[in-house]
Amino acid sequence: MSMKPFWFAAGPTGNAGVLVRLGAIGAVMLGAAGAFAYAGGWLSPARLTQDKMMAAFKDANGVHAGFRRNHAKGVCVTGWFESSGQAAALSKAQVFGPGRVPVVGRFALAGGMPFQPDKPATVRSMALRFLPPGGEEWRTGMNNIPVFPVNSARDFYDQLLASSPDPRTGKPDPAKMKAFLATHPEAARALALIKQRQVTSGFANSTFNSLDAFRFVNAAGASVPVRWSTVPVQAVTADSAEPAAAGDKNYLFDDLIAQIAQHPLQWRLIVTIGEAGDPTNDATLPWPADRRQVDAGTVTIDHASSEDNGRCTDVNYDPLVLPSGIEPSDDPLLSARSAVYARSFTLRAGEAHEKPPSAVTVKDVQAGGNS
Ligand code: HEM
Repeated sequence: MSMKPFWFAAGPTGNAGVLVRLGAIGAVMLGAAGAFAYAGGWLSPARLTQDKMMAAFKDANGVHAGFRRNHAKGVCVTGWFESSGQAAALSKAQVFGPGRVPVVGRFALAGGMPFQPDKPATVRSMALRFLPPGGEEWRTGMNNIPVFPVNSARDFYDQLLASSPDPRTGKPDPAKMKAFLATHPEAARALALIKQRQVTSGFANSTFNSLDAFRFVNAAGASVPVRWSTVPVQAVTADSAEPAAAGDKNYLFDDLIAQIAQHPLQWRLIVTIGEAGDPTNDATLPWPADRRQVDAGTVTIDHASSEDNGRCTDVNYDPLVLPSGIEPSDDPLLSARSAVYARSFTLRAGEAHEKPPSAVTVKDVQAGGNS
């Protein structure tokens, strides 16, 4: 009995069979090429891709080689996280066990303009990379707003287009944003909440929120929905528009660096636990104010340096870099963020040789004395 490969055994034989088989191989190859084309968005002009998102950032902000496509103006910081042990019952992540882990962070202003002047109402961000021994690291990017303006990548894209300068006037067309908000009532509601927030005097006394929901999973496998925030230990004082009005372009960053030079800055890492029915897939919606909160520990920041020589520059604060014990929720923004941050990282890393110095050009500043 002759042995034939199984895919041959059932097929036609002779020349006709060879042709059929070649045809089948061609069809498979065409199918594969088609799949790549589809994944690249070439066959589906309406499909949102990483490249389209990058193009929208470019239209909105111009070209700034070597910088992050969003949150472009920033400064690197380092410090540590000291766990309180209180979140360990909710999550088996190593960072919540006893002890300290090093942290590499970045404070930034939202928007893709690396030289924009600091203004009180511009969204501020804190990004953190927790580095426990063993490599189970955790990265998170948080903003000082209570909810996110949109709940999908498509809406983020459409909002970016609606806020981009009109090529004829060089300014955004208010009618476009009006039309976007008229068709996105959830964005209009979220922006109203964002406007009502208390804006503080600086980065050091801002609260930063994950906005996206995640899930904590404990050693027994129990999973709960969570959102987290870093809440300042520093006294909260209201913002003053004076430095911005006086033309002090970097006043928020300069204040932050001056404070770090004097003493370490601290934030409590507060975890809010969602209950049944709390939305986990919609970052425009707040959770009820009475949800249980756990104080997971303290983030201490004691060192600042320019991005140009800092440890945060080559970090992509991808929200899906999670240790075991923290999992993504069903929020569609998470995978969109992950994909877009990766493309932004690839572009800026490839442009590093063209990058001009960052706006915030501080040398190493260490709390209690320059290093
Ligand atoms: C809950 C919603 C979001 C939050 C809390 C958030 C927060 C942040 C933060 C904190 C950073 C700065 C990270 C750093 O300092 O390196 C950042 C960067 C960025 N964000 Fe978002 N973001 C959100 C949604 C989005 C969405 C929907 C998009 C677009 C689809 C987007 C695009 C970007 C890009 C391109 C960067 C630069 C990434 C890099 O080059 O490293 N973000 N975001």
